Amino acid sequence: MNKNVIPHAYQISCKGRRELNKHNSFLIWFTGLSGSGKSTIANLVEQELYKKGIKTYTLDGDNIRKGINNDLSFSPEDRTENIRRIAEVANLMVDAGLVVLAAFVSPYKKDREKIKNIVKDVNFVEVYVNTSIEECERRDVKGLYKKARTGEIKNMTGISSPYESPDSPDVEIRTEEETIEQSVRKIIDNITPKLQLNHE
Ligand code: ADX
Repeated sequence: MNKNVIPHAYQISCKGRRELNKHNSFLIWFTGLSGSGKSTIANLVEQELYKKGIKTYTLDGDNIRKGINNDLSFSPEDRTENIRRIAEVANLMVDAGLVVLAAFVSPYKKDREKIKNIVKDVNFVEVYVNTSIEECERRDVKGLYKKARTGEIKNMTGISSPYESPDSPDVEIRTEEETIEQSVRKIIDNITPKLQLNHE
């Protein structure tokens, strides 16, 4: 940071905003292949939280890559920058008192480690949506795998670009073996204690 940028001491803090909301704030990060089900599951988790009166916001490729990150491609460097900016945005939202859900392929371990440093370990929940490449390609909801096979799309994760799975995610979802209700329940069960204000 430039040494002449000196932060102002605001009187309303993250703690104060959390107290006003009556719940903790943190980031739930969904990682997995394109078409693995990240956004679908994040959407259902957010609805459950909404029903409980929790203040939330969801970040995904649609609202980020079309706006703030519309200058970025799918090259390794641009993906790293994509994730860095999202982590910074999520960090502000966590500071604002929200439970933030973020659904991004985020294929590189080192980038996911950086998110944890930006938002801090205690504010980070990693959810690995583990769906095999075969199943994602079979679903091919957006038709991208087909385009990747014909070479129309370069750097497609799982086909022509790597995906590094998390070693010890907080929650692992296996969409081919469990129902979507079970997946949502696993995540809600994991985060419920974290929502408590006095939780450390
Ligand atoms: S990330 O790798 O930088 O984390 P991000 O989650 O923002 O990726 O965007 C992935 C989404 O963009 C995919 O769900 C898919 O819809 C679309 N997409 C377009 N091209 C690619 C590609 N080459 N690799 C992966 N996803 C792509």
